[in-house]
This record gives sequence, C-alpha cells and structure tokens, in this order.
Amino acid sequence: MAKTKARYVCRQCGFSSAGFLGRCPECGAWESFSEAIIAPKHPPKSPRAGYELSGGQAMALSEVPAENTVRLRTGLVELDRVLGGGLTPGAAILLAGEPGVGKSTLLIQAAAKTAHQGGRLLYVTGEESAAQVKLRAERLGLDTSLLWVLPQTSLPEIEREITSGNWNIWVVDSIQTLQWPELGGPAGSSGQIRECAARLISLAKAKGVPLWLVGHITKEGHIAGPKLLEHLVDTVLYFEGERDRPLRILRSFKNRFGSVNETGVFEMTGAGLGEVVNPSAFFLAERPKGASGSVVTPVMEGHRPLLMEIQALVSFSPLAMPRRQTLGVDHSRVGLLAAVLEKKVRLKLFDRDIFVNVTGGAKIGEPAADLAVAAAIASSFLDKPLPPDLVVVGEVGLAGEVRRVGRLRDRLAEAARLGFTKAAVPLGEADGLSGLKMEIDGVGSVGQFLYRHLNYTNRGGDRNQ
Ligand code: TYD
Ligand code: MG
Repeated sequence: MAKTKARYVCRQCGFSSAGFLGRCPECGAWESFSEAIIAPKHPPKSPRAGYELSGGQAMALSEVPAENTVRLRTGLVELDRVLGGGLTPGAAILLAGEPGVGKSTLLIQAAAKTAHQGGRLLYVTGEESAAQVKLRAERLGLDTSLLWVLPQTSLPEIEREITSGNWNIWVVDSIQTLQWPELGGPAGSSGQIRECAARLISLAKAKGVPLWLVGHITKEGHIAGPKLLEHLVDTVLYFEGERDRPLRILRSFKNRFGSVNETGVFEMTGAGLGEVVNPSAFFLAERPKGASGSVVTPVMEGHRPLLMEIQALVSFSPLAMPRRQTLGVDHSRVGLLAAVLEKKVRLKLFDRDIFVNVTGGAKIGEPAADLAVAAAIASSFLDKPLPPDLVVVGEVGLAGEVRRVGRLRDRLAEAARLGFTKAAVPLGEADGLSGLKMEIDGVGSVGQFLYRHLNYTNRGGDRNQ
C-alpha cells in the first residue's frame, strides 16, 4: 500500500494545507483546521459504480431510450412536490438546515408514511440513540412497527447493513457524524464528510436506492458539510425557519430530477411538522382588518404565488438617527423606499422611526413587494388604512416609478382565490389582465398610488411623481 500523508484541512470550507494554520486563508475561520490523513489515490479500477457511462458512442438524442422512472412518493405532499414528484431510484438527496430546525422530524414523519405505503426504509442515526428516535416517533403518533433504525457512525458497518438488507430507501442522519476509519480526522471534518458521502452515494447509485443525507449548517451561516456535498448529490434541499416561530420552508437549491423553484411550507407544532396546504391563508390568518400600515402583497415562493401581509409602523423618533428596523424584508430596500417617499412624494419621514415586518415569520426577497412596503409605510404615516380587499404589487424605482414584475397573472389569481377584489399593479402591465375577477388599477408611480388609494396629495410636488 502506498504511503499516506498528513494534511490539515479546514472544517468550514475544505481548504487543505501541508501545515497547521490558526486561521483559514480561504474562508477566514479561526481554529478550524484539523488533521486529515489523505489516503493515497489508488488507480481507479473502474469508474465509481453508478457513474459508468455506457458505450461512449455518439447517438441521436431522439434514439436514447427514455428512462421510465417510477418515483417513490414520501407521502408528504409538500415534500414530494419539492422533490419533483417523489424519490427517484439511486438519487442522493441532501437535506440541509440549522440544528433544531426539524430535519430529523421531517424525515422520520416521511419515513413512517413511506413505510406504510410499502417502502422498506432504514434510518441510520448517528446523532440520537435508537431509543430517542423511537421516543420521538411515538410522541409524533407514528406507527413504529414498520420502521427500522440503525444507530451507527462507522461507515463500514453502515455499508454492510444497508447492502445486506432489502431496504429501498436509506436515510443517514447526519453525514457529519459518520466516520470512515481508514481516513484520519474527526467525524465532521471535510475529508470525512466528503469521503463518507461519496461512498454512500456510489452505493445508492449501484443499488438504485434513494439516499437521504442530513447535513447541518451552522448558525453563522457556514455550510461546512453541505457545501462540500452540493456537487456530489443530485438534489439539495434547504430547510429553513426560526426556532421560536412555527413556519418552516423547504427550498430546493439544486435538483437533477425536478424544478429548483419549488418550495414546501410546513408548520412546526407540538405534534410534529404539519403541512401547510393553504400557505396564503396561513400568512393572512390574523390580519387586522382596517388597520393602517397593513398591506397584502402576492409574492412568488418558487413557482407558487403566496399572499403575505406586510406591516409598517411609523412613529416619531426621539433619536437623532431614527431607526429603520425590518423583519422579513431587506433593510436597505426599506431605507431606499423611505428615501423615495421622502423625496418624490414629500412624506416627512426623516424624524420618524420606521419598523417593517412580514407577518408569520416569512421572508420576502423580491423587489416585486416594493410598492406594498412603500404603501404600508405611507399608510402608517398617514394613519389611513388601505381597503381590506386590495392587494398591491410592483417594483419601485428610484424615480418613484412603478415597474413591472414577473408572473403577475399568477399572483393575482391567487389573490382572487382568497377573496381579494382589487389590485394595484404596475401601469405597464394593467392591460392584458383580462379574465381576472378583480378591479385592476394600473399605477405609474408611488405618488399616483398614494393619491388614488390613500387620498394623499403631494402638495408642491409633481402630481405625477
Ligand atoms: P429536530 O427534528 O430534532 O431538528 P434537527 O434534526 O434539524 O436538528 O427538531 C428539533 C426541534 O423541533 C426541537 O427544538 C423541538 C422541536 N419539535 C417540536 O416543536 N415539535 C415536535 O413534535 C418535535 C418532534 C420537535
Ligand atoms: Mg436531527
């Protein structure tokens, strides 16, 4: 056997160096280096199982036989949708998220459902004992009689077990706990994560068994393990949410078997994760009617339009530097919109604190919500409510103009479905929305919106602005 050599590898980003370093020159992390024995590269005997490319001869794409893959449904509708319709044979799926967000809960719930439909699933747990897994499953009211669990962190043992049984789904929770003894370094080091994952993925491909890998991302946003694995796996799903709020969103970041624009919405309850079948209603559940500062806007979560409520509170500030605080919308975007309101329609916001919040713990990342944010701020400032059955959508430019947004028809259709009867939309898109059962108001500028819906006139300023 060839000689092995020691290297030091950053656990955050995988940067490797011949000597120990206190700080990683690549990602800047402190004390992140640990020793990893890099196994000598054996000359590849054959390509990794499952990655073989057959033949190597040119052929017309139209003559390539279509793969008729039967997808295995997990039984959770939101999860199946994000996966692109279910699990494909041999697919490696990484479920990444912060500790405590609910990854294990999601998988054990999906596992129980799949087992019920005849799936033979093995749950490898490296983090919790078998008893803990059982306790949780029972607490969630799941039928444990069909679930198989393997408390193990040693990769050779896991390989032996998963290949000897007749399982048709493997779950490994989590990849950071696995260890391949031949390779030095602690579990969770980048070398271990990469090697263990690559081996499991090869096995999954060779056997045609879907493989779930759970990966933790750290609080600071470092995606130590998951980042290393993104190119190895077929699908990367991120499970997001804040601990003290029930909302959880499952996003597809990469998917070789489906769209990356799908999202699943869940709610963490005392009895596990519930699927939020009607997310718009969820986000609007406690909406106060007739309150100033509240605006509803349709945002796109992947392919799906969702209605969200934006709330603003504008109050006199005792501070020399008034506050601009936001939750769920980009802070600098709110600053920009406040500046537009001040300059273009002369709302005197300079001595006011502005708080903007998206209710339900959701996050809005698209400028299509600009007009709604501006409307919420103005509504609170003027202390005038907007009509309760109005939705507002449009991007706002620095000149105060309202710009086009994508998928407007889909957004409005969702609003109409939930009983909204009026929509303020970008002027350029107001025509061409025929067929929607809504009163459509095309607005060209923020000033026009405020004039028409809040009866506010920009005295001394330009009427069209
Ligand atoms: P868990 O699935 O263990 O998270 P992860 O695997 O991502 O680390 O979820 C742990 C959190 O979820 C924990 O803080 C408690 C909460 N939780 C509930 O609120 N309700 C439940 O029914 C369960 C099982 C967990
Ligand atoms: Mg867990």
